[in-house]
Parts: sequence; C-alpha cells; structure tokens
Amino acid sequence: MTVHRRREWELPEKAVTSCHLLVHRRKAMTVFGASMLGFGVINEAVADKVTYPPGDLSGTGRFDPGRPITPEQIVTTYNNFYEFGLHKNIWRRAQKLPTEPWTIRIEGEVERPITISFDDLMKKMPVQTRIYRHRCVEAWSIVVPWRGFPMRDLVKFARPLSAAKYIRVTSMSDPKVMPGLSIPYFPWPYREGLWMPEAVNELAFIGTGMYDEAMPKQDGAPIRIVIPWKYGFKSAKSLVKFEFIRHQPETFWEQTSPNFYGFWANVNPKYPTPRWSQAYERALGEGRVIPTQIWNGYGRWVASLYSGMKHDRHLFM
Ligand code: MTE
Repeated sequence: MTVHRRREWELPEKAVTSCHLLVHRRKAMTVFGASMLGFGVINEAVADKVTYPPGDLSGTGRFDPGRPITPEQIVTTYNNFYEFGLHKNIWRRAQKLPTEPWTIRIEGEVERPITISFDDLMKKMPVQTRIYRHRCVEAWSIVVPWRGFPMRDLVKFARPLSAAKYIRVTSMSDPKVMPGLSIPYFPWPYREGLWMPEAVNELAFIGTGMYDEAMPKQDGAPIRIVIPWKYGFKSAKSLVKFEFIRHQPETFWEQTSPNFYGFWANVNPKYPTPRWSQAYERALGEGRVIPTQIWNGYGRWVASLYSGMKHDRHLFM
C-alpha cells in the first residue's frame, strides 16, 4: 500500500473550496478591482472571500502561503514586463503578443537538442497547481495560484549531460509587438539563469497558467519560470529557450544594474538595494505592509542548497 505523506508545503484537501466560491471571488474582484491597483487597497470583506481555486490535487499539492490569494484583477493588471514598457500598466499592450503557435528550444549540454511546440510539451508534463508568494525586488508582493509543472520534470525531459551545471532561459523578443525592445539601454533579450540544484529543487516551477486559466499574456504566456524564494525578476516570462550550460550565465539585470542584485538574487531583508530597503513589502490587495522573510519564507526547502557557500552579500545580491 502506498501511503501519501503530506509534505509541509501542501495544503490539506479541506482547505480547498468549491468552484462556485471562486466564481464568487471573481465577481467581487470585478467590482473592487479598479480601486485596488498597485497600492494594496482592498475591502477586507473581499479579502475574506479570497479562497483557493479548484484544481488537480494529485500532483505535488498546494503550498500554504499563509496569506490570502491576491485578487486576479491585481495580478493581471499590475505587471513588470519591460519588453512592453517600463511601467506597471502594460497589460493591454501585452495582448499583442502572438502565442499560438509557440515553440521552445531546448539545447546546450543535453543528449539531444530539441525544438518542441508548447502544446506538445504540455502533453508530456504533469500539470498541477502551486500557490506561491511572489516578492518583487521593488518591495511589493502577491500570492498567486499558478498552474504548470515542476521544473525538474522539464530537466528530466531535456536529459542534460553531466557537464550541464546551469540553465539559462531566454524570453521572446519580438520588436513588432514589444516597444520596450527599442530602448537601447537594455541588453535584450531578457535572460535569466539558475544553478542546476536550484532548477531541480521541488519548489522550482514552470508556470503555464494562473487562477485555473491559461497564462495571461502580461504574466508571461504561454510559459515562464516561477522561483518563489528569489526576487521576482528571476522568474522570466514568455520563454523561448532553455539552455543547459557549463558556466554561470550573465543575466539581464546583472548586465543592466550590476550594483543591484546579481545571479543568485535570493530574497534577504537584510540586504537593501543601493536605493531602498528590502526589510518590508507591500502586500498588494491586503492593504498592509509586512516584513520580508529571508528566502521569501521558503528557507526550509532551499536554504540547504546554499549551505556550503559563504552567505555573504554575493549570494543574496
Ligand atoms: N520577464 C521578462 N521577460 N521581462 C520582464 O520585464 N520582469 C520580472 C519578471 N519576469 C520581467 C520578467 C519582474 S521584475 C517581476 S517582479 C515579475 O516578472 C513580475 O511578474 P508578474 O507581472 O506576473 O507579477
């Protein structure tokens, strides 16, 4: 007999409520949405109704964020996606991103490089829901019910060679629909990277949807990474390439602002940016400011990854 031992980050089934409550929540959000944007002003009566969406519980389960799920209206209208502009209100522009068909290239130190359509990849992956906190380097945070699959399943599918020590991911760059690409200051395309042990950690996730729907374009359709213990800029959107490589890759933000956070970019409230403190964060939709937790509160699952390393500012910045 197989006994399923619930991991600490899984929510018990009783915490998951029915579909009609989710619909109820959506209606409430439509009413209050416009007034909530950005500044975390939310009617507490709405926050009480924010609840967990239905979905597949057979996968790796649900993470209890210890906070209400952020209203979908906020998560889909307050975005960072510099390819579409440097402000938060890019969601309308992002609708121009063509996402069908979408192909993904997997290459580098792998047994066999492959180009695969998003649809074919999805047929091979164990789709599930993960509810994670997301902490932006700009000191705001949200809680999102992602749909997608564990990054370790993508790594398994790619069959990396032992020489592969890092993964570099690359976002779509299409000047026809992305006005941000004409800003010469930035080293486009947007690129991020993970160390292989990070990529196969059970929390590392590939997002293909949210709130039980396909991924909205402004949130990185059709496929992005979701790395909840690192600052949000690590979670690159609208990915077209996964490269398995030998050396630590340079990333978009390291190149752009080397005096800010670098490759590791693990959340740590003790290390401010050169311009602002990271001690607190605005919990969007909750109308409050809360203390930021080291590793964004996921230390139990990820701190050991870094235990052999010197915990100096380079690991966090
Ligand atoms: N990915 C790309 N391609 N371009 C971006 O500008 N911004 C990052 C990250 N991924 C960004 C990106 C930052 S700074 C954050 S905080 C998150 O996306 C925001 O994700 P969200 O808009 O879905 O909340």
